[in-house]
Amino acid sequence: MATSINAEALNESPMPAAVQKQAQAKQTVDPYNVSGEVGEDGVMKAIDYSKLVEEFGTKKIDKELLERFERVTGKKPHRFLRRGIVFSHRDFELILDRYERGEPFFLYTGRGPSSDSVHVGHTIPFEFTKWLQDVFDVPLIIMMTDDEKYLFSEKRTIEEVQGYCNSNAKDIIAIGFDPAKTFIFSDFDFVGGAFYKNIVRLSKHITLNQARAIFGFNDSTNIGRIHFGSIQGATSWASSFPHIFGTDEKRTTQIPALIPCAIDQDPYFRMTRDVSARIHYAKPSLIHAKFLDALQGPGTKMSASVDESAIFMRDTPNQIKNKINRYAFSGGKDTLEEHRAKGGDTSVDVPYQYLRFFLEDDEELERIRVSYEAGEMLTGELKAICIRELQTYVAGFQERRAKVDDEMVDLYMERRQLKWAGNPKAPIV
Ligand code: TRP
Repeated sequence: MATSINAEALNESPMPAAVQKQAQAKQTVDPYNVSGEVGEDGVMKAIDYSKLVEEFGTKKIDKELLERFERVTGKKPHRFLRRGIVFSHRDFELILDRYERGEPFFLYTGRGPSSDSVHVGHTIPFEFTKWLQDVFDVPLIIMMTDDEKYLFSEKRTIEEVQGYCNSNAKDIIAIGFDPAKTFIFSDFDFVGGAFYKNIVRLSKHITLNQARAIFGFNDSTNIGRIHFGSIQGATSWASSFPHIFGTDEKRTTQIPALIPCAIDQDPYFRMTRDVSARIHYAKPSLIHAKFLDALQGPGTKMSASVDESAIFMRDTPNQIKNKINRYAFSGGKDTLEEHRAKGGDTSVDVPYQYLRFFLEDDEELERIRVSYEAGEMLTGELKAICIRELQTYVAGFQERRAKVDDEMVDLYMERRQLKWAGNPKAPIV
């Protein structure tokens, strides 16, 4: 075994061409790369999420878990949960146990401020997090990884990412988080004190070998990138935030985070969970979302730097209309006759897929699906519904965003106590 690995590394026995091709064509999902498998025909396939669950060792969110969620919280699961858009988890049931008993936990999510161009795909985990905050009534910590976006780019300057951090914080505030329960921080400003102690504590327990295996770093990777995981990880620990949870570390090290995130962020927290177990800190729980496809269709991901790939939160109603009409990949048939006879394919149809994310009404969504697959509804009609829904969503966001100023950003980012109730029905412990 060992000899064959060495031989490969030394290039003594070159990989057969077919194997090499396969290796390059593999689906990749990690914090720095997201792409589906490229088939024989050179076309990128949709991301295989079941395979990710298996490879990452997470659990699928199943019907039983959703039923328990509804029983414990008294709330109907969010449409992302009902439709398998938020599809996977680690130890979410432990959070439900705690909620049931009235024991503390908190929500943690984040954003890497890589540009000013926030698109609808970026807002998905935040929409979901806001809903979780409303349901559980617990503190929420939002990390702005300005340092990460500086370290992981060849071009961006520190001043540039700081600017994005401010404008992205405004976008996040516009989602509607309750200021009494939400703390937003920038790594550049907040590292120090209890947080820094936890960062160092975490980094001490990760070897270079482990970081390489988890993130695929190599000898040319700058050391800031190698260390960054301990910063994103240490935010999972309540003891990093004495202004919120107090200074009794016996207690605060046992308060777990629930981290809603897109599945590509899982490696950071797999690593954090391992270290947590070793130093007897509460392990963070996770709940994972899928990606919103780019307008170009399954297997692609919206890109902040490609205007035709995404619906941006600053797009006008007309831009939204034109983008969907021009670029949205359609599962409809080429001719009207064929479409009427065979119907459309909703599994690859971008306007339909977007409706799964944004249309709240389950019955209306089902009517659309049945009608489109039967060839009764045409691509143009489906696109018109999608345009209407996205225009409404984006307009609502823009209205709230216009009211967010620098003072509000200061309010959310100020180190202060938060106020929350937790579960009012829990027994007093
Ligand atoms: N690394 C994430 C990004 O590039 C930002 C982030 C930090 C994050 N902490 C998180 C995302 C926790 C989800 C959950 O966008």
